[in-house]
Amino acid sequence: MAFNFFKKLVGEKETEDKPATDSGKLKYYQLKVREIIRETADAISIVFDHPEEKISYKPGQFFTLNPVIEGKKVRRAYSVCSSPYTDEYPAVTVKRVEGGLVSNYLNSKLKAGDTLEVMEPMGSFTVVPEAGKKRHLVLFGGGSGVTPLMSIAKSVLDQEPGSDVSLIYANRNEHSIIFREQLQELEKKYGRRFTLLHVLDQKPVDWECRTGLLNPEMLKDLMRVLPAWQTDQTEYFMCGPEGMMENVALTLKELQIPKERVHRESFVAGKNPSVEGGADPVAAAGDDTPKAREVTIILDGDEHKIQVEPDKSILETALAKDIDMPYSCQSGLCTACRGKCISGKVKMDEEDGLSESELEEGYVLTCVGHPLTDDVVIEIG
Ligand SMILES: Cc1cc2nc3c(=O)[nH]c(=O)nc-3n(C[C@H](O)[C@H](O)[C@H](O)COP(=O)(O)OP(=O)(O)OC[C@H]3O[C@@H](n4cnc5c(N)ncnc54)[C@H](O)[C@@H]3O)c2cc1C
Ligand code: FES
Repeated sequence: MAFNFFKKLVGEKETEDKPATDSGKLKYYQLKVREIIRETADAISIVFDHPEEKISYKPGQFFTLNPVIEGKKVRRAYSVCSSPYTDEYPAVTVKRVEGGLVSNYLNSKLKAGDTLEVMEPMGSFTVVPEAGKKRHLVLFGGGSGVTPLMSIAKSVLDQEPGSDVSLIYANRNEHSIIFREQLQELEKKYGRRFTLLHVLDQKPVDWECRTGLLNPEMLKDLMRVLPAWQTDQTEYFMCGPEGMMENVALTLKELQIPKERVHRESFVAGKNPSVEGGADPVAAAGDDTPKAREVTIILDGDEHKIQVEPDKSILETALAKDIDMPYSCQSGLCTACRGKCISGKVKMDEEDGLSESELEEGYVLTCVGHPLTDDVVIEIG
């Protein structure tokens, strides 16, 4: 998987402990953990106190948490579950991943009163609520993928009285449903404006819901019971395991939903990089003489020249040279490392994180980017 491959290359980049401050344009906060809420046996929500200056974020964005584990600072992205409109404090939800370093550390070791370094909120999986808007948001969530959807749902229900929100939410069983009570409260509060459809792998004992695989057939069945809105007033957001998202994407395509109405957030890189031969980008470009190439990085007005080896990414090389590059997921998903290629050509192992218009404008993701020409100049920010 491209995700593991890249992490191995970068290693867990050790960074200096920084005070809560700006690092160039990027803000790093030292946030105090206000409360840990146990959501399920393997998921917690971490509620942070605001720093002196209140953090502003958009519904559905993510924070990058930089805990120090066994003396090493590591980074992982976690989406907000809180709404900037209805929740006083920002919060993220972390579900354990089997064998995972950070998710298990946070679930078992973090406690109220601890301080965590957190990078400023980022991400474009978001909505900007507008009071006068009338639209239908159809959200598809699987497991911990419900986290940004929760933030979006709360925000739109609160801020847009003329809009409806529907959530189709898949889980293994009733015990693994994150935010079960909170979602029930939203149903009570917003009535027919909020439709919640649970789908479980295993039949629950004492309540009725759909069970089985969230395949196109079931998805179409479920979508028939949602409030009827015109396509041009409906937007679709999905976040969950890769298989589920593929099924949702396929279903929406079959229903001829225009792709600009469909938004997706991935927590893990897919099995199939969007660029063929992603692990060997130079070969993929048809150049069979791999060689190191110079890349110029413009960061906060400073120019840095680095020599990028063919088997390394631009981000990895820059970090090794101690250039304070922005990054988070290191796998082409979150766009934290985005830069604009203003000269030369860059090949990406994964480009799903960028929209078509960003690609057209020349944006690249340095964590999965490799220079194809000797004149590459990338402006970060
Ligand atoms: C934009 C973005 C937002 C995210 N938001 C959230 C969130 O709200 N809540 C949340 O719990 N996680 C979220 N993640 C995932 C999170 O950043 C970590 O990847 C996850 O917690 C695993 O980190 P780890 O250190 O525990 O595992 P690692 O030590 O990095 O990996 C261990 C193993 O688990 C696999 N793996 C990694 N992540 C996952 C996963 N999510 N599912 C299945 N297998 C995985 C890896 O491939 C590897 O084999 C988000 C990721 C991105 C890119
Ligand atoms: S660091 Fe997340 S896309 Fe590059």
